[in-house]
Amino acid sequence: MASVRLIRNSAQPKDPLFAQALARRSAKDVYGPGAVAPATLAQLTAPLVTDGVVAGGSVDPASIAALRQLSWEAWMAEYENAAMRRESIDLMRIGNAEIVANPDGIELGGIGMGLGKMTGLLTRQTLDTPGTTAFQQGIDMFMPIVQSAQGHVWLITPDASRASQIAAGRRWVRMNLQAQALGVAIHPLSQALQEVKALAGPYADIHRRLDATRGAVVQMLGRIGYAPFPAPTPRWPLKTHLVAA
Ligand SMILES: Cc1cc2nc3c(=O)[nH]c(=O)nc-3n(C[C@H](O)[C@H](O)[C@H](O)COP(=O)(O)O)c2cc1C
Repeated sequence: MASVRLIRNSAQPKDPLFAQALARRSAKDVYGPGAVAPATLAQLTAPLVTDGVVAGGSVDPASIAALRQLSWEAWMAEYENAAMRRESIDLMRIGNAEIVANPDGIELGGIGMGLGKMTGLLTRQTLDTPGTTAFQQGIDMFMPIVQSAQGHVWLITPDASRASQIAAGRRWVRMNLQAQALGVAIHPLSQALQEVKALAGPYADIHRRLDATRGAVVQMLGRIGYAPFPAPTPRWPLKTHLVAA
């Protein structure tokens, strides 16, 4: 729960990133082969407001290959874990009618998904059954997404405190807004960062690889590249989140 007071302060300079607030996207589609220039990466990771958060990234081919591999292994480990898969499936909104009725969760919209639903190929049951077309399509859909990363970015905090988590969230939004300003697509890949037994291997790998030691936490990992920006993610109207005082 948070209590928010909005106070007008004309002495406060306007953050230039604010201009990107409505344009900002999480770009979840396959990225094109265009390389991200090191200078562009540097603009994403340059300290804006740090609050102890260290922003890093790489567009080096060896790093891209290693992190594609690591994030794909983590994605598969999550997908092959029955309890975690179920958790995602329960949050899926399959077809446009479900998305409109519940504008949150993981949206599977568009014509292809609608057809799959109409023909009975795409259901919560088939998605959750290894060996079905729907189960395989999940893999076929996400592999090119994860493997088309043209670079990666990450955020590391020195500890796992609540304050560090909030600082990381604020830093991520700034990175996301900055990416938007630069025309760069950015997409979080959180599977390897989950603190659960099924992901213990990838979690250790990513912390080792990014040199997050002595209690430091990799709070965000994302891929970057170039792709057309998608439509905004469906969301509940603001008023549904507010409680009158
Ligand atoms: C902490 C965090 C972790 C996320 N992890 C993932 C992820 O693993 N895979 C993914 O597709 N999107 C991930 N996202 C992106 C969300 O899906 C996306 O931000 C959300 O749908 C809101 O959409 P928008 O950023 O387009 O407004 C993550 C976002 C946050 C804030």
